[in-house]
Amino acid sequence: MHTEVCPVEAVDDELRARLLACWTDVTNAGGSVGFVPPVTEDGLAPYLDAVIERVHQGRELIALLRVEGEVAGFAVLSLSVSPLRRHWATVLRVQVRPEWQGRGLGRVLVAGVHDIARARGLEFLHLTVRGGTGLEAFYADFGYREFGRMPGAIRVAPGDDRDELHLTCRL
Ligand SMILES: CC(C)(COP(=O)(O)OP(=O)(O)OC[C@H]1O[C@@H](n2cnc3c(N)ncnc32)[C@H](O)[C@@H]1OP(=O)(O)O)[C@@H](O)C(=O)NCCC(=O)NCCS
Repeated sequence: MHTEVCPVEAVDDELRARLLACWTDVTNAGGSVGFVPPVTEDGLAPYLDAVIERVHQGRELIALLRVEGEVAGFAVLSLSVSPLRRHWATVLRVQVRPEWQGRGLGRVLVAGVHDIARARGLEFLHLTVRGGTGLEAFYADFGYREFGRMPGAIRVAPGDDRDELHLTCRL
């Protein structure tokens, strides 16, 4: 299985469609990437277009996971605008298409994000995880450690507030 993770600094219409389908399908399969199911492509489009706008401004970049040339997932690397924080970035929306999950591709994607971050001179990464998902265990293998949590920050449903766990990793 040939896999690659590439930095993307420009998104054309075809890639936009693949990213939108991925984000929608991952969310509707229960993934914690900013929304709860059900979502539609039309509903997520403004959020993806805001990401693409920041990518084109150089404020964010997309780490694109391809398997045999097909889009199988992505993550967003959000760069700091502060001159004092140029060695830090935040990782967002880490996702692998549902049919590809559980086959080691999440590890490939995160390792690729780290390679891209190092190549840009970054030294620290930050990301957040929805409490109750157990995802901190996935990131722990890469050296991420929890340094704090925002209590009840994520309301996944009325009466179901989750902490937002803040993790960091030194590259
Ligand atoms: C999280 C995600 C990116 C992991 O990708 P994946 O391809 O399924 O994961 P891998 O097959 O590479 O698994 C790597 C390891 O992480 C573990 N892992 C995967 N998902 C996990 C989860 N949700 N909770 C805890 N551990 C998890 C696996 O068990 C595996 O460990 P092992 O090798 O000891 O068995 C993927 O499942 C996904 O897209 N989920 C939906 C979106 C999401 O919730 N993203 C997280 C945003 S913070």
